[in-house]
Amino acid sequence: MPWRKPFLPPAALSRADLSRRAYEVWISETMLQQTRVATVVAYYQRWMARWPSIWDLAAAREEDVVGMWAGLGYYSRARRVWEAARRVWRRDDGEGGFGVLPGDVDGLMRLPGVGRYTAGAVAAIVFGVAAPMVDGNVLRVLSRQMGVLGDVKADRTVVEMLWAAAGELVEAFAGDDAVSERPGLWGQALMELGSTVCMPKPNCAACPITETCRAYAEGLGLANRGNVGL
Ligand code: ADE
Repeated sequence: MPWRKPFLPPAALSRADLSRRAYEVWISETMLQQTRVATVVAYYQRWMARWPSIWDLAAAREEDVVGMWAGLGYYSRARRVWEAARRVWRRDDGEGGFGVLPGDVDGLMRLPGVGRYTAGAVAAIVFGVAAPMVDGNVLRVLSRQMGVLGDVKADRTVVEMLWAAAGELVEAFAGDDAVSERPGLWGQALMELGSTVCMPKPNCAACPITETCRAYAEGLGLANRGNVGL
């Protein structure tokens, strides 16, 4: 995955490098919300070759940006990405500083098209803060771990509960350091576990966390009962 890079604390990066890193993770995670990794790689590489920085994107023509998104679906998302780039470039997002995305979930979520998943991913992976990132894969992993069965995604209350659990878990995993690579590692590990092992039809024999898994203990893993629709 070309957007995966070793974590460096924001304070150790130049403004240009921090801008670039936040831009890479923001664009890749936005693309990954609607499309599989294998498809995103080519789109991501074409995108970065054409607009290597958030300034390049902000200066692009809207129709070119929308055109580049074609094939990924939801092209209103491309328009919002472009608008967000222009805001960060114009610095009227009020945070983060010129050319740099905000470093916290609330600031990120004020940008067009940035929901709590993308905000959590950028905050944790780039800025090293203990923010949860919960996608469909993480919902499945956590709901099985906690023995919350049924059509999890369809129940707003359960989804909120799992987000809250993810928040507590990532804070515990982060430890006492205000900034570290651990939150980003935690979120990405869970996403990867969900997409490679804890799949709708799970491969429990390969899972490193069956010991704490309530669904596994109750014998639900092999039959995939209790995770309808996930
Ligand atoms: N799915 C979406 N973003 C991901 C990431 N950063 N790592 C693994 N899986 C992902």
